[in-house]
Amino acid sequence: MLNPGQNEIESVIEADREHVWHHLTQHKKFETVDPTIIVEGKGIRVWNATGREHIDAVSGGVWTVNVGYGRESIADAVRDQLVKLNFFANSVGNIPAAMFAERLISKMPGMKRVYYSNSGSEANEKAYKIVRQIAHNKYGGKKHKILYRERDYHGTTITALSSGGQEQRKTQYGPFTPGFVEVPHCLEYRSQWGEVDDYGSRAANAIEEVILREGADTVGGLILEPVTAGGGVIEPPVGYWERVQEICKKHDVLLIIDEVVCGMGRTGTWFGYQNYGVEPDIVTMAKGVASGYAAISCTVTTEAVFNEFNSDPDDPMSYFRDISTFGGCAAGPAAALENLRILEDEDLLANCSTMGAHLMDRLEELKAKHNIIGDVRGKGLFCGAELVADRTSKEPLDEAIVQAIVGECMSQSAVIIGMTNRSLPGLNNTLCLSPALICTKSDIDEIADAIDAAITKVTTN
Ligand SMILES: Cc1ncc(COP(=O)(O)O)c(C=O)c1O
Repeated sequence: MLNPGQNEIESVIEADREHVWHHLTQHKKFETVDPTIIVEGKGIRVWNATGREHIDAVSGGVWTVNVGYGRESIADAVRDQLVKLNFFANSVGNIPAAMFAERLISKMPGMKRVYYSNSGSEANEKAYKIVRQIAHNKYGGKKHKILYRERDYHGTTITALSSGGQEQRKTQYGPFTPGFVEVPHCLEYRSQWGEVDDYGSRAANAIEEVILREGADTVGGLILEPVTAGGGVIEPPVGYWERVQEICKKHDVLLIIDEVVCGMGRTGTWFGYQNYGVEPDIVTMAKGVASGYAAISCTVTTEAVFNEFNSDPDDPMSYFRDISTFGGCAAGPAAALENLRILEDEDLLANCSTMGAHLMDRLEELKAKHNIIGDVRGKGLFCGAELVADRTSKEPLDEAIVQAIVGECMSQSAVIIGMTNRSLPGLNNTLCLSPALICTKSDIDEIADAIDAAITKVTTN
C-alpha cells in the first residue's frame, strides 16, 4: 500500500489506533484525535496521511535521517545486498560489513575495530561488557564501575538506563544494574557551583572527585555524550574535554564516547569528539550510521582495547563472548556504506557547519526578540533553545507552554520541531532542532520563522 487511497488510509489509522503501542506516548488522547501516520518522505520533508507537507527539523524525530528521505541509491544498495546475502551470523564475515568497517575506521584515526549490533542501547551495552570483562581479566573484577553523567542518555534497556542521567526516563523501571555511578552535568547555564572562572575544568574536576570517592581501583569506564542530546543539547564548556582526558589517563579509566546522535556528521565533523581533540578508547554509534535506512549500530575500539581480548588463545573465557543476532544483517552495513558515500560526495559535513552557523544566528536573533529564550546552544546542525519563565532567575518555562510552542510550529507552519521529552523533572524546556545535513538556508529560515510565529502566538494569547 505505497500510495493509499482515502478508504485505505482510514483503515490504516484505525489499525494503528487499535493495535500499535507508540514509543514515549500517552495513548488516551487517541480516543479523540487520530494518531499521526507519516506516509512519505523526500529530502527534509515528510507527508502525513492527509497529504499535508511538513518540514522535518528533527530528522525523523530523533536525529536519525542525516542524509534526508527518499534516497534511492541507499534503497538500491540494500536491495542488491539482500538478494545476494541478507544474513549470516557475524561470527563470520560478509562483504559490506568488512568494507564499511574499513571505511569507518579511515574516518576515526586512533581507532581500529568495529563490533556490529543494531541499536544505540545495544552498542553501549557492548561497551559496558568490554569494560566489565577487562575488569575481570586484569583486575580481579574490582575495576568494574562505570561512570555516566547527569543529563546524558545512553539507551533504553535496563543496563543502558542504569547509566542514564535523566531521572524521568528511569523512574519506575528500577531496580537497576549495580556498578553505575553518576557524575555532575556540565551545563554552565545551570552551573552547580555558582559563577566560576573556569567552569569547564570545574565540571571535569567533579568527575575526578567521584573517581576518588569511589576509589580509582574500582572505576573502569566513563561514558559521555560529546554533546548531550535529549538532556538539553549541551556542548561541554571550553577546557572540559582536555581535563576529562587527563583524568581518564591518570586513573586508568576507559573513555567511552556515545556518538549515537553526533556520529556521522551531525556536528560538522565525522564524530562529535573530533571537535575537541579527544582520544577515546571506545566509540558507540547508531542513528546516523545508515540514516535510518537499515538498523545498524557499531561499538568501535582501539587496538589496545581489542588486544585485551586477543592475548591468550588457550583460555576459552578470555575472548569477547558476545553475539547480536541482527548484528549479522548485511542490510545495515550496505546502507551505511552508501550513506557514507553520500556524506562525502555531497560534502555534507561542510554544509552541516555552514547551515548550523546560520541556524545559530537565527536562534540568537530569536533570543534577542523573545524574552522566553534564555539560552541558545549547539554544534553544527544540532541546536537547542532553552525556554525560561524569567531570564534573571532562569526559572524554566512551564512544560505545557513549551509543548504548545512545538504544537504551534506544527499546526501553523507545518514544521516539526522537538523538545526535551520526559527527561529531567521541571527541565523539559529545551526546543531541539536537528534538520538533515542536506538542508538549505531557506529551509533553516522556514524553521526559524515557524518558531518565531509559534512563540509570538503562544506568548501573546
Ligand atoms: C545519546 C544516545 N545514546 C543512545 C541512545 C539509544 O539508542 P537506541 O534508541 O537506538 O537504542 C540514544 C537514543 O536516543 C541516544 O540519544
